[in-house]
Amino acid sequence: VAATAPKITVIGTGYLGATHAVCMAALGYQVLGVDVDADKISRLTSGEVPFFEPGLPELLIKALDSGRLRFTTSFQEVADFGDIHFVCVGTPQRAGSFAADVSYVDAAVTELAGHLRRRALVVGKSTVPVGTAARLAELIRTVAPAGGSVELAWNPEFLREGFAIDDTMRPDRLVFGVSSPWAEQRLREVFAPVIGQGSPVMVTDPQTAELVKVAANSFLATKISYINAMAEVCEAIGADVHDLALALGLDERIGSRFLRPGLGFGGGCLPKDIRAFMHRAEELGVGQAVAFLREVDGINQRRRARTVDLVRELAGGDLRGVRVAALGAAFKPDSDDIRDAPALDVASSLHQLGARVRVFDPVALDNARRAYPALEYGQSTFDVATGADVVVLLTEWSQFREIDPAALRTVVARRRIVDGRHALDPAHWRAAGWEYRALGRP
Ligand code: UGA
Repeated sequence: VAATAPKITVIGTGYLGATHAVCMAALGYQVLGVDVDADKISRLTSGEVPFFEPGLPELLIKALDSGRLRFTTSFQEVADFGDIHFVCVGTPQRAGSFAADVSYVDAAVTELAGHLRRRALVVGKSTVPVGTAARLAELIRTVAPAGGSVELAWNPEFLREGFAIDDTMRPDRLVFGVSSPWAEQRLREVFAPVIGQGSPVMVTDPQTAELVKVAANSFLATKISYINAMAEVCEAIGADVHDLALALGLDERIGSRFLRPGLGFGGGCLPKDIRAFMHRAEELGVGQAVAFLREVDGINQRRRARTVDLVRELAGGDLRGVRVAALGAAFKPDSDDIRDAPALDVASSLHQLGARVRVFDPVALDNARRAYPALEYGQSTFDVATGADVVVLLTEWSQFREIDPAALRTVVARRRIVDGRHALDPAHWRAAGWEYRALGRP
């Protein structure tokens, strides 16, 4: 990039922020990342990514070696350094409520604004309740020493864990929520390398940009719950939701992506985003418009309960003393994230119902151990499956898809498997002598 290129800062170095900072440096920008968590900053500075994301560690080290990426805990330094400040802090679900907790966003922007003495663009990337940008713009105007020469824009992020780099470098679209041609111009300039790769740009007002993000996640959650609702119907009549999903997906208007039936969605985004959206819509007096999201949430929760039921059925109706091998802990494969993980929810329910559950996951074991100390853990599929009465697949890691049923049958006590993610070929497993059960399949 040109010597006159804007200097970038990234506020919050969690999943989104660390990825964004590394990618911006990879594009050639001078980048300064800031976080209130000094431990996180020192780990990043020494080239360590504090979470699992394929490809990111290599790219972080390259960026650090190039001298284009640095980290700090000083907001003063960030304010002095940056032309464009990306706000990437988290907005978790507030305890005891459906609402999003925006206190980290508020704190970050307040802290930054207090030091802003020159013209700058502050760009929100966090997922926030619609209307947050307008509130923050007002806050900046009153708090920043540079006052009206600091502008706020909203540029929601759509990256998926496990594909974070690709989704940042080649997003399906860029959404620029701006209040002035200057802000649009700055964003077009900073994202020029990404736009050049073919990602389309949508320019809107900030509130529409905020809304695009929650509407997109709500749509995705709805699509998953739709097919899982069909799984419930399938179970009542002995139909096969797997085939149903394939047939539906061939209609181009419907599309096959995000139509995979199974245990349902989890993670740090979809569940809390639909709840925060319901809460915000109610505040705005349009709760009825998104009341269906309550059903989406409900269907999703029922999949977890139904998976527990399937294990119980296979075990003969009583889980007490039953040895269960739980394959998977992460909320999805290629991630060590266990936030609202369906897998661990199911494993701990089985445990509470008296089963002896042993869990294995290729990368999320440490996180699982910390959050669910009552469960037992093992070092491999065969380790946890040894002596098991029921095997239950909860996260569709590729190494679980590739399990050889003929080899696994030699270590289990009973050949029974529940495929919570439709990841295995039933015919293959049944041919190897296994009793195979999956949600929504006969
Ligand atoms: C999600 C969105 O896909 C991203 O676009 C968004 O940027 C991100 O949230 C966010 O808001 O930050 P992510 O949470 O990383 O990304 O994971 P997804 O790949 O969307 O999967 C979410 C959950 O849905 C997983 O538990 C997955 O197992 C489940 N899922 C997904 C299904 O059960 N069926 C499907 O067909 C697809």
